[in-house]
Amino acid sequence: MTRVIVSTGTAANIEAVMRIMDSAFDPNFGEAWNRGQVLGMMSLSDVWLILATPDDDEMPEGFALARLTIDEAELLLLAVRPEARGRGIGRILVEAVAEKARARGALRLMLEMREGNGALALYAAAGFAQIGRRRDYYRGRDMSRHDAITLARPLGIDPGLVA
Ligand SMILES: CC(C)(COP(=O)(O)OP(=O)(O)OC[C@H]1O[C@@H](n2cnc3c(N)ncnc32)[C@H](O)[C@@H]1OP(=O)(O)O)[C@@H](O)C(=O)NCCC(=O)NCCS
Repeated sequence: MTRVIVSTGTAANIEAVMRIMDSAFDPNFGEAWNRGQVLGMMSLSDVWLILATPDDDEMPEGFALARLTIDEAELLLLAVRPEARGRGIGRILVEAVAEKARARGALRLMLEMREGNGALALYAAAGFAQIGRRRDYYRGRDMSRHDAITLARPLGIDPGLVA
């Protein structure tokens, strides 16, 4: 695992966020957000951005965007540049989001992802379990349809203790 500096971001970090966004998401599925969508979301209260910067790098290589709604937090976006993957940065970002969500009073952390996204391995290892499914929620560029699955992780429980 690489040494990573985790920091809270602001709208001033939009260029770094878009650099990661544009490299990270598979364009076949239209999952990446544009600049306006990110800035619009960040202008809302109870939304936070976390950046991950390897200590041997100047630029952030990953980010997570999350939102709190009453006692539930949602991981809206998680992305790591392809060149920096497989070094634990994604997991570090998930844990940073969980920690902040817990500190803000969230009882669970939710997320929605396209079924078939390899990120499921990361989420399962981080203590998430499937709680729902939305049929045909995503449409690929080739018009193929893909279900969305909803995952949740209770907060306050160390995932290392979950069997
Ligand atoms: C998902 C993502 C953030 C993971 O970033 P990362 O820094 O590579 O994650 P980690 O190194 O912490 O990986 C943790 C584990 O999950 C696995 N994993 C993560 N993403 C995976 C993927 N796409 N396919 C297969 N396995 C994956 C890794 O193999 C690793 O397991 P290991 O520790 O047993 O080797 C990155 O692949 C990404 O940006 N993907 C595109 C955007 C995306 O799909 N985001 C999630 C939307 S819900």
